[in-house]
Amino acid sequence: MQPRPVQESQTTITELMIPSYANFGGKIHGGILLSLMDKVAYATASKHAGTYCVTVSVDKVEFLQPVEVGELVSLKASVNYVGRTSLIVGIRVEAQNVKTSVIKHTNSCFFTMVAKDDNNKPTEVPPLILENNEDIKRFIESMRMKEIKQKVREEMDDAKSSVDVANAKELLRDERCVINVKG
Ligand SMILES: CC(C)(COP(=O)(O)OP(=O)(O)OC[C@H]1O[C@@H](n2cnc3c(N)ncnc32)[C@H](O)[C@@H]1OP(=O)(O)O)[C@@H](O)C(=O)NCCC(=O)NCCS
Repeated sequence: MQPRPVQESQTTITELMIPSYANFGGKIHGGILLSLMDKVAYATASKHAGTYCVTVSVDKVEFLQPVEVGELVSLKASVNYVGRTSLIVGIRVEAQNVKTSVIKHTNSCFFTMVAKDDNNKPTEVPPLILENNEDIKRFIESMRMKEIKQKVREEMDDAKSSVDVANAKELLRDERCVINVKG
């Protein structure tokens, strides 16, 4: 399978934030931004894979700064890492105030996508050609993130299976809850 450079699949989507995208507080709905992130992740992953791709997991989506109606939101995406059938797409989200030209970085997040064949089975993706230090850095960061996520998944499974309800009173003494089990 022919390797492909990062640059070949890099994708940017820019969209104007119109009033119908706003929530009751007048800011842009998180769901609108999530949908744009999913679109750009799909476009980037499928350009690299040359097949249809699905979203498997989403990391580091945080809405720390609100996006306003009238701002131009740009989502810049690159394939940071490829496994056998999976790809990690990094997305930088920026919002530009068109009047002042001030650009704020609202979020950087990571979407794991899996390439699918015509029978809906995971299918191999081309290796990634890393052409500069930034490409190399992102690939190594993603490898580490993948390892950390695997450990967290295992620890969460352990945590779930080892919950001791009999000890709840002691365990929850300082928490903001009231145990009110009847019978
Ligand atoms: C994701 C999916 C393809 C995994 O299927 P599977 O039969 O478990 O396939 P595999 O075990 O061969 O895993 C395929 C790849 O997914 C990766 N993967 C599986 N679960 C994962 C998870 N929770 N997080 C990150 N990667 C994951 C595997 O590491 C593997 O990557 P690799 O080939 O690069 O090593 C399958 O669960 C699926 O189709 N899910 C629905 C996705 C979808 O429809 N998304 C749209 C949103 S609803």
